[in-house]
Amino acid sequence: MSDPQGPIEPGFPTTRLRRLRYHPATRRLVRRTRLSAEQLILPLFVRPGRGLRREISSMPGNFQLSPDRLAEEVGQAAELGLGGVILFGIPEKKDATGSDALSSSGIIAQALEAAKAAAADLLVVTDLCFCEYTDHGQCGVPSDATGRTDVDNDATLPLLAEQAVVHARAGADMIAPSGMMDGMVGAIRRGLDEAGFTHLPIMSYSAKYASSFYGPFREAAESAPQWGDRRSYQMDPTAAAEQALREVELDLAEGADIVMVKPALAYLDIIRLVHDRWPGVPLAAYNVSGEFSMVKAAAARGWLDEKSVVLESLTAICRAGADIIITYWAKDVARWLA
Ligand code: PBG
Repeated sequence: MSDPQGPIEPGFPTTRLRRLRYHPATRRLVRRTRLSAEQLILPLFVRPGRGLRREISSMPGNFQLSPDRLAEEVGQAAELGLGGVILFGIPEKKDATGSDALSSSGIIAQALEAAKAAAADLLVVTDLCFCEYTDHGQCGVPSDATGRTDVDNDATLPLLAEQAVVHARAGADMIAPSGMMDGMVGAIRRGLDEAGFTHLPIMSYSAKYASSFYGPFREAAESAPQWGDRRSYQMDPTAAAEQALREVELDLAEGADIVMVKPALAYLDIIRLVHDRWPGVPLAAYNVSGEFSMVKAAAARGWLDEKSVVLESLTAICRAGADIIITYWAKDVARWLA
């Protein structure tokens, strides 16, 4: 294809587009997408104990950490200039109601104390859901009301608000509800406001798909559902893409400060749609566990070059419109960019 602007000199084949690519410095100069450490959030898994650093077999380089070992990771995240960390709690004991999630001495409270002691200024986000805490592994309160065991949306809402206040009191800087309950953002906002945390932002997992790419995470958090699946509340990948816009619109109306699309790479079209519709709303994308493990596995076999594949993938997520990326590669990327 010829450059619509045409070659400057007739007969000379270098078009303007090629000229911009010729020198590495010019390529850098005209870059639009620039990754930076400060836009990256590192997920961390924490469980009770001391001195515990247990590697997650399907996610090499990621660990279940006790609070004291979490502190080391948080310190590194701060030193590398990451945007923040997001904490996932794995309680000592999972039970029918997920009681640890509502305890002021539960795993997330312990983790926040350790994280804040390690790096007071680092942004610490907490994932807010029940699936990590319940023995059934569902994201809310089970109910048989419809004759089919499912999650009771409205019964879950006050519990999410309560959990948010527990996180806020323990020192969370931002709350990230991931359970895809309708009305969760509004319920959490009211709960936080009533408890005096009007300043605390909510980053909602607004358009979260029922994805097979969460497989390794469920090993990491030991949160695979024990019955059924999550398809009644997480989004259907085959649904009209505009349904993601409806989900985001509802979250914004309820008070979400940052919205999220999850997973990232198979949903770049959704990221683009949300970005274009609300260019002024900060948009996060979650580069999920399965996206991580696929590349790790291929790289371990020498089939892919991890660094360049990761940088290219994260560039694509940004180019699609994400401002913030939650990624298990956050520390590596910070080092690569430095
Ligand atoms: C909990 C939650 C999940 C992830 C983040 N929060 C799993 C799920 O919905 O099953 C997945 C993250 C990942 O795969 O990296 N609701």
